Amino acid sequence: MSKVTVIGAGNVGATCANVLAVNEVANEVVLIDIKEGLSEGKAMDIMQTAQLMGFDTVVTGVTNDYEKTANSDVVVITSGMPRKPGMTREELIGVNAGIVKSVAMNALKYSPNAIFVVVANPMDPMAYLTLKSLGLPDNHVIGMGGALDSSRLKYFLSQAIGCNANEVEGLVIGGHGDTTMVPLVRLATYKGVPVSQFLTPEQLEQVAQQTMVGGATLTKLLGTSAWMAPGAATSYLVESIVKNQKKMITCSAMCYGEYGMNDIMMGVPCIIGRNGIERIIELDLNEEERAKLAASEAAVRKTDQILHDIKAL
Ligand code: LAC
Repeated sequence: MSKVTVIGAGNVGATCANVLAVNEVANEVVLIDIKEGLSEGKAMDIMQTAQLMGFDTVVTGVTNDYEKTANSDVVVITSGMPRKPGMTREELIGVNAGIVKSVAMNALKYSPNAIFVVVANPMDPMAYLTLKSLGLPDNHVIGMGGALDSSRLKYFLSQAIGCNANEVEGLVIGGHGDTTMVPLVRLATYKGVPVSQFLTPEQLEQVAQQTMVGGATLTKLLGTSAWMAPGAATSYLVESIVKNQKKMITCSAMCYGEYGMNDIMMGVPCIIGRNGIERIIELDLNEEERAKLAASEAAVRKTDQILHDIKAL
């Protein structure tokens, strides 16, 4: 039996619960929100698709009743304000820090052994805040960003090449921010062949740029933050934990020495399994990629510092 709690029944949380159910990632999914009726309604709506989609996962919605989340294997935190057009993820820190910390502590009371997956923005600092506030082992808190950013990279690569996105591989490391993420286009492949054989350096640079502002582009089009790919990327990550798949997924992970970084949560390739972050993979980056990652680290560190300044830590 596996149980996943999704905190926050907004667009991202509800989509995540829906994908978890449709893909039968867990036996039980609890959707929890502070807004009366919202999670109950979204859960009921999802459950009314069960016989249409043919899944057996049971999704329930509760208002603020953390007892119902007891003994979850994974707790996903999506609560907080989403971005509005023109806003950066970093601008949400003041409001979201308080929300994320309090919901994480409530959930931990009932699920002390859970793996925590942080989705709320600004994601890397929110994951860092969760880890520090809960005092959990480093491998038990995972920031979801790289799974999403990497899927956007693969999408833009497939668009540029004109091929099936499922045949493209690639990863994005660094912070989950418009200017901080580092799409590793040099290492991306189409059917195992380096993408540089299909695209010019200018095209590859354009793909990298499109990936970096992937979230902002959608926020502008939708009037609020995206939810389909964020929800699906979160479910993909949760599945690797619950089913112990040991997939390599870029996640915000606590680094102590990896890539020369210390005491910071940043997007790095991780092996994800039942114990959360089971291993961090160190890639052989070139000088340009290392410089980009260093700039990304500096930017995330600056946002982490705000957590101290506002006394959230
Ligand atoms: C995005 C938000 C969820 O990238 O961070 O769409």
